Amino acid sequence: MALKIVSGSASQLLASRIAEVLGGVLALCEFKRFPDGELYTRILESESEETAEVVVVQSILSDSDFFCLLQLLDAVEDVFPSAAVDVVIPYMGYARQDKRFERGEAISARVVARCVSSFRPRRVFVVNAHSPDALRFFEVPTYEINAVPLLASALSSVENAVVVAPDEGATELAKALANATGFTWDVLQKRRISGSEVEIKHKSLDVDGKNVIIVDDIISTGGTIATATKILKSQNAKDVFVACIHGIFAQNAVLRMLKAGVRDIFATDTVPSAFSRVSVAPAIASALKEK
Ligand code: R5P
Repeated sequence: MALKIVSGSASQLLASRIAEVLGGVLALCEFKRFPDGELYTRILESESEETAEVVVVQSILSDSDFFCLLQLLDAVEDVFPSAAVDVVIPYMGYARQDKRFERGEAISARVVARCVSSFRPRRVFVVNAHSPDALRFFEVPTYEINAVPLLASALSSVENAVVVAPDEGATELAKALANATGFTWDVLQKRRISGSEVEIKHKSLDVDGKNVIIVDDIISTGGTIATATKILKSQNAKDVFVACIHGIFAQNAVLRMLKAGVRDIFATDTVPSAFSRVSVAPAIASALKEK
């Protein structure tokens, strides 16, 4: 019985890696836009009665990625009508808006979860969701995949380091990474001023002459990392390395971080970039097999 891996436009390389690890067949899909800007998505496969399982893989970095995922779920119903469908969302964007911070705001994470759930997939998998709350909105069995062990192995060349969470939200990540690497950990306190600017409270850390690994789940504008790096450098930290699960690196994020003194950046391939040093494909493949 064949396993088909259906990739969205945002996750083509990762989907092919998952197909390779699982021994599945990668489906060819077409993504284009109509002249007015509307998205067109098609699975270019002929119906096969032998396809028992389908895995749809699509990170959500933008509204278009989200819509493409929904289009694929709709197309799968046509091409593989009798298959069990699993959805893998390597990077679940919109998860940071997992509650109403102000009256009248949309709970974006819930919008994503409700729309995906409406196709009644068998299971949903998300790599390191921004918060557990974001996953609670799915109305089908949903599992989180932890990429920290993979990230830890990519950092094996870094010696004598302190793992630092740039804000309280990253504390659990820092603890997990410290545990996996055998380093100590600490946490800073951050206050967001705007979408791209943050303020980090001054705090004395035991980093004098030591390497530091700042770890966060997401790097978007790089403001958090740049600000934390400046504080750590002012306290005589040796080399500052950055580790993240989802490297979005919007706008001039890379420049901001490097100019602040970051030595190197380690990210996974949930969002493909030049810094995707480690693939989450093995972890996704294991989760798909084990659950
Ligand atoms: C926020 O809670 C996240 O964990 C990250 O700290 C945040 O997304 C980083 O954003 P930026 O790179 O724009 O500072």
